[in-house]
Amino acid sequence: MLIIVLDVDDEKHLIEYNRMEYPSLMELISNTYYSEIGACKGKGLCGTCIIEVIDGFHEQPINDQEIETLRKNGVYDKKHRLACQIILNEEVNGAEFKEFVE
Ligand code: FES
Repeated sequence: MLIIVLDVDDEKHLIEYNRMEYPSLMELISNTYYSEIGACKGKGLCGTCIIEVIDGFHEQPINDQEIETLRKNGVYDKKHRLACQIILNEEVNGAEFKEFVE
């Protein structure tokens, strides 16, 4: 399976993954090419892993902590999520995301 991530410099990364290989999209991104996200280790508190959904993402449940963190960063809308709360299942295959730049 594969996801596409545009980094903060608009460089496109095609990242392959296997089902349940990583606990979340944040872990996949930080382990693959970019380690500066994930300060709270995936607890949904820090907001360093905010991403914009560009294409092909089928909604996954969102919890109250994620909503609060997105609100604090001024991006609680349909387009932004915390990568640490996105599960890498088959439905994420082919989706495209962009790292959030304040
Ligand atoms: S790693 Fe901290 S909010 Fe996602």
